[in-house]
Amino acid sequence: MQARVLLVSSEAVPLVKTGGLADVITALAVSLRKCNIDASILMPGYAAAIAGAEAHAAQSGQPLTSVALPRPLPGGPGRLLQGVMPGTDVPVLLLDTERFSQRRANPYIDQSGQEFCDNAICFSDLAHAAVAICTGETSLPAPHVVHANDWHAGLIPFLLKTAGLHHIGSMLTIHNLAFQGNYHFDLAAQLGLAQMPSDSIASLEYWGKISYLKAGIQHADCVTTVSKTYAAEILTPRFGYGMEGVLNARRHVLRAIPNGIDSDVWDPQNDPLSRAPFSIDRMRGKVICKSDLQAMFGLLPVDPFAPILGIGSRMSHQKMADVALQALPAILDRHERMQLVVLGCGERSYEEGFADLAQRYPGRVGVHIGYDERRAHALHAGSDMLLHASRFEPFGLTPLYSMRYGTIPIASRVGGLTDTIADAGMQGAATPGASGVLFDGEAAQDMEAAVQRAFDLYGSRSEWQAMQRNAMQTDFDWQTSAAAYIDAYKEIAAGEAKTAFRTALQPKTAGNVAAVAIQAA
Ligand code: ADP
Ligand code: GLC
Repeated sequence: MQARVLLVSSEAVPLVKTGGLADVITALAVSLRKCNIDASILMPGYAAAIAGAEAHAAQSGQPLTSVALPRPLPGGPGRLLQGVMPGTDVPVLLLDTERFSQRRANPYIDQSGQEFCDNAICFSDLAHAAVAICTGETSLPAPHVVHANDWHAGLIPFLLKTAGLHHIGSMLTIHNLAFQGNYHFDLAAQLGLAQMPSDSIASLEYWGKISYLKAGIQHADCVTTVSKTYAAEILTPRFGYGMEGVLNARRHVLRAIPNGIDSDVWDPQNDPLSRAPFSIDRMRGKVICKSDLQAMFGLLPVDPFAPILGIGSRMSHQKMADVALQALPAILDRHERMQLVVLGCGERSYEEGFADLAQRYPGRVGVHIGYDERRAHALHAGSDMLLHASRFEPFGLTPLYSMRYGTIPIASRVGGLTDTIADAGMQGAATPGASGVLFDGEAAQDMEAAVQRAFDLYGSRSEWQAMQRNAMQTDFDWQTSAAAYIDAYKEIAAGEAKTAFRTALQPKTAGNVAAVAIQAA
C-alpha cells in the first residue's frame, strides 16, 4: 500500500508565489514522491494558477479534469480541477470557485493594497473542500494524512475532528505566525461553522475572534514549524504574536522540521538563469555573473572590484525594509565604490523608498520593483554580499540561495537564520567555519555595523574566500527534511498507513531523522 498525503497550501511554485511557502510546498511534494509517498497538492484556483495549469496541460496533452464536490462550499458552488504541477510529477488540485478565480495580481491583497474582504470565506471554502476529499465523497481517494500549511489551511484539522474523521492524521505547519486569519464571530454562519457544538467553536476563539491558525494549532495531531530556533522562539511573547499560550499548551505535539532548498534550481554549476557557471574551485564564472548583474541593474562602472551588496526579498516590516532604508545612505556614503542591487516588492511606502534611493545614487543603486526568477538568480550569483535583515524569520530560504553562489549573507540573528548561517563573529578574524555575518538588533546602527563587519572581512581575500567556500559547501538538501516529515506522518497516521509511512522511510533517509525532527519541547 502506498501512503497518501494531501498538502494544502495557498501557494505553490510555479503556479502562484508570493514568498518562500510556495517554494517549500512543491519541493516537499516532489521529495515525498521520490520516497514513494503519493503526495498531492490542493491549492486555490486563482486565475493565474488555473491559467498556468491549463497551459501546462495543453503542452503535455493531458487536459485538466474536473472533480465534483458533494455539496456547495460555504462561499458557494465549487469544483476541483485536477492536473499536474508544471515541471514535476506532482498531482495538483485547484479549487475553482468564483471568488478565487477573480483574484488576479495578488492572491491576498486588492488593488488598493487592502486585504480582500472575503478572505475568511475563500479559505473556509479551501478547508471544506479538503474535508470533502477526506470523507471519500469525491471521486478522489481519501488521503491518510492531511498536511495543512499556515492559517489559510488552519481550519482543516478542526473540521476533520468535528466530522469524526479521526482515522486521518492532520498536521499543521507554521511558516509564519504573524499571519493568523482572525475574523469576527458574526461570520460563523457564512464560514460553515454555525452548526458546530458551542464548545468546539470556543476552541477557535482568539481575543474575541475566530482564528484559523489557532484552529489548526489546537486540533492538529502534529504541529510543526520550519526551524529549530523558531520553534523555541514562538513559545515566547516576543515572537509568539499572542499565540505563545496556545503553543505552550500544545508543545507536546510541536516539532521543528527545517526546510531544505532545491539545490538543482539553485546550482552555480548548472543554472540556465545565470550568465556563467562556476564552482568552489573555479570562481571565474562569478566575475562574469557580476558584470551581468551590473549591466542588468544599470550599475556603473561595470567594475569587478566594486563590492556589490544585494537585497532580494519581500519589502515588509518583517524584512526590516524600514531599517534598511534608514541605514543604506550612510553605508553608501561610507563605501564610495560599493554598489547596491535591490529586487523585491511589497508595501508601497517601502517600494517608493527604494526607488528614491536609486534616484539619489544614480549608477550606484539599481532597484527593480517586482520579482522574477531571472533577476533573482542574477542577484544571488552576481552579488558579493546579501543583506537579509528580519525582525523574525521562521526559516529564510533566500540567504541559503545566495550561499550556494558564494554570496555572503549579512542577516539578523533570529529564527532559521541562526541555525543555517555560521556567524563570523563581530570582531577580528572570522570564526572557523563561518559562512556569513549575523547581527542582533533592529536599529540602523546595528545594520550598519554588520555591513561594516562584512566589508572588513571582504578586505581580506583569504578570509573572504574561506567564508565563500564554507557557504558554498553547506548542504540543505530536501531529502533530509522529507524524511523528517515522513517520520512525523508515520506518528499521526492510523492503521496500515502507519506501516506504509514506515516502509517509505528507507534506512538511508531514516538515519537523518533524529538530526532534524527535533522535539521543540
Ligand atoms: P519569505 O517567505 O518570508 O518571503 P524566504 O526567504 O523564506 O522568505 O523566501 C522568499 C522566497 O520568495 C524566495 O524564493 C525569494 O526568491 C522569493 N521572493 C523574494 N521576493 C519576492 C517577491 N517580491 N515576489 C515573489 N517572490 C519573492
Ligand atoms: C515564510 C517565512 C520564511 C520561510 C518560508 C517557508 O514565508 O517567512 O522564513 O522560509 O515561510 O517556510
